[in-house]
Amino acid sequence: MFSVVALAQTPRADYRVVPLPDEINGIKSADFRLTEQCLINYPTGNREMERNASMLSQYIEELTGLHLSTRPTLNAKDRIGNISLLIDPKVDNDEGYSILITTKGIEISGQSPAGVFFGMQMLRKSLPIATAKEILMPAAQIKSSPRFGYRGMHLDCVRHFFSVETVKRYIDIMALHGMNRLHWHLTDDQGWRVEIKKYPRLAEVGGWRNGTTLGHNSPVNDGIRYGGYYTQDQIRDIVSYAADRYITIIPEIDMPGHMVAALTAYPELGCTGGPYEVWGMWGVHDDILCVGKDHTLEFVKDVLNEVMQLFPSEYIHIGGDESPRVRWQECPLCQQRIRDEGIRAEGKQSAEARLQGWFTTQIKHYLAQHGKRIIGWDELLGCAVDTTATIMSWTGAEPGARGAMLGHDVIMTPNTPMYFDHYQTKSYWNEPTAFGGCATLKMVYDFEPVASNLPADKRRHILGVQANLWTEYITCEPQIQYQVLPRMAALAELQWLQPEEKDYNDFKARLPRLVEMYKHYNWTYRAKSLVTENEDKAEN
Ligand code: ACM
Ligand code: ZN
Repeated sequence: MFSVVALAQTPRADYRVVPLPDEINGIKSADFRLTEQCLINYPTGNREMERNASMLSQYIEELTGLHLSTRPTLNAKDRIGNISLLIDPKVDNDEGYSILITTKGIEISGQSPAGVFFGMQMLRKSLPIATAKEILMPAAQIKSSPRFGYRGMHLDCVRHFFSVETVKRYIDIMALHGMNRLHWHLTDDQGWRVEIKKYPRLAEVGGWRNGTTLGHNSPVNDGIRYGGYYTQDQIRDIVSYAADRYITIIPEIDMPGHMVAALTAYPELGCTGGPYEVWGMWGVHDDILCVGKDHTLEFVKDVLNEVMQLFPSEYIHIGGDESPRVRWQECPLCQQRIRDEGIRAEGKQSAEARLQGWFTTQIKHYLAQHGKRIIGWDELLGCAVDTTATIMSWTGAEPGARGAMLGHDVIMTPNTPMYFDHYQTKSYWNEPTAFGGCATLKMVYDFEPVASNLPADKRRHILGVQANLWTEYITCEPQIQYQVLPRMAALAELQWLQPEEKDYNDFKARLPRLVEMYKHYNWTYRAKSLVTENEDKAEN
């Protein structure tokens, strides 16, 4: 499947990968010689480590053509001449790793199998892409632990729908970059993409739109019926594929706005009763869930019951962004709810804004009863939701800092520079159509997720950083990959390195070897980002 080049000289590994490990210390020992005679040991009876061992074997074979067998470790002597995957409680951080390479063998240790997996990714990226009978692995002690526990990427499978294989390849790309959370946007105005058994029309009707606007919301609609959804079996398959790679999928069911697909399937869920039509335009729609009706709350809970069954993630993302309140202002049932619940405008928050807070709180409590927590977009800061809600800061970085000050946990995804559907240069004439904006590779690299004025005791609320990929203008897998690569490499360094360890020039020097790997796997990427600087200043 992969073409691998034969080299005249014995190829050598290079541990200066992306993200750069915290420590690479040379040690006095001859190189380890990696050949097909080496075995990959894993602790006897540990199924996760057995799977890790097979994956490492597969990675080595894909890159070098060398086929290494795996086996359960019998005793310490077995490590000699081999690669051994080990659990070691002394390794810092539950996702950290420590790798010892001497002439006698390679040991990849983690406090957990996840840490071992991230260590394996490091070793994988250090390998030369070349067929050879042996690879020289310089002796070294390598250690790393991630700066953030939440290292995310987001994927919108609503605006355009992507196959199970495409989502799995996105997960593969995340794994190579040491990421651990996939925020999967599954419902919106333009489609409902997850089968819900109790409400079959959500997918059957809400999964399809009659056409799509051309370009940036032009009046021209292509008139082509478009859609699709994931069956529950497919979702389980993807969740398990991700879990094998230590990636937790956080589903997003966006509410109470961005719900036109659901309203089309079940018009009684809206304030006006419809009719509605799955939207063929982009943006923010005035029609949202009617939260004056008890039935709407029952509906949402029923949907979440099935979502909780499908996704073991502790977090469920409940959206909460871009929810206009014009329907609620006119709706007798929503106004009755405001009176019944004693909801009042306060400060800058209208009664309707606080009605969204009331609704979100109901759902938050319901999920909490099932051991789940919510993430919502930063609009939740404007509608009186308590600090047990985790905030995703998207309208900028300021709401994230404000949320942390208030005591919310926060995930940083500020639209500049963390929206990877934005252009990668200001000279975008020859770029695939994107949303707009500009986030160059350097802008991504230079972003600091923790505001400098955030007091020390609030910093722990910044759980991590994520880039988002909205797909209004992204129609196919090569375009997905082009938008995220190589920007994901810069993001990976933000997620793993301490700020003082970051160095853009050094990163640029290490990047070409990672890009060789993109090429090897036939992933599309933006080659110009490797050679062009100051693209944020260029003009068309
Ligand atoms: C968003 O981009 N509407 C969260
Ligand atoms: Zn209503």
